[in-house]
Amino acid sequence: MSKGKSPGRRGECLKPIDLSLLDSPLDFMAEDHLRTRKICALIDQVAASNGTDHTDVKEVMFFLRDEFPLQMQDKTIDLFPMMHTRCKVSDEIESILDRLQSDHGKELETQAKLTAALENLLAGQAEPRPKDWALLVSFAKHVRRHLIVENAILLPIARARLSASDLAQLRDTMQQRRQLNKVVE
Ligand SMILES: [Fe+2]
Repeated sequence: MSKGKSPGRRGECLKPIDLSLLDSPLDFMAEDHLRTRKICALIDQVAASNGTDHTDVKEVMFFLRDEFPLQMQDKTIDLFPMMHTRCKVSDEIESILDRLQSDHGKELETQAKLTAALENLLAGQAEPRPKDWALLVSFAKHVRRHLIVENAILLPIARARLSASDLAQLRDTMQQRRQLNKVVE
C-alpha cells in the first residue's frame, strides 16, 4: 500500500537487487521482498493512471517478466524442499509451504497474463482492458499478503533451521539461476 508518497525510482528498491547479496541467500530474499513491495506500490500507481507513464509501465513489466519468476523458482525449487527436509514437526511448516506453493502457482499464472498485457501496451498494439487493470491491482494485493507470510514465518524459520551447508547450496543454485557463474569479466 502506498504511504501517501509516490514510489521512488532508482535507489529506493526500485532497481534489481545487488547480486553480491547472494552470498547470504536469505538476506537476498528479504531484500527481494522489499523490492517486490515497492513494485506493488508502483503497480497500484500504474493501474490507477491506466498506464499513462510508460516508464513506470516498463519498470513493472520488466520486473514481472524478468525478476518475479526467479524469486518464485528460488523458493519453489530450492528453499521449500529444503524446508521440508530440515524443519521439525513442531515448526508446523507443512501447511504453510503448501499454501505458499499454491500462491506461487496462481501468481505465475497471473504474471504471464499481466506481462503480455503490459508488453502489448508498450508496443502500442493494444490497451489493457479494465479487467486487466483490475487483475493487476488484485495481483499486487495477493503478493503483499503472500509476502507477509514469507517474511513473518518462512524466512525466520529458514534462518533457524538451515545449516551453513544448506545456505551454501541455496546460494549456489540461486547464483546459477542468475547465471553468475557464466559471467566473464
Ligand atoms: Fe513467494
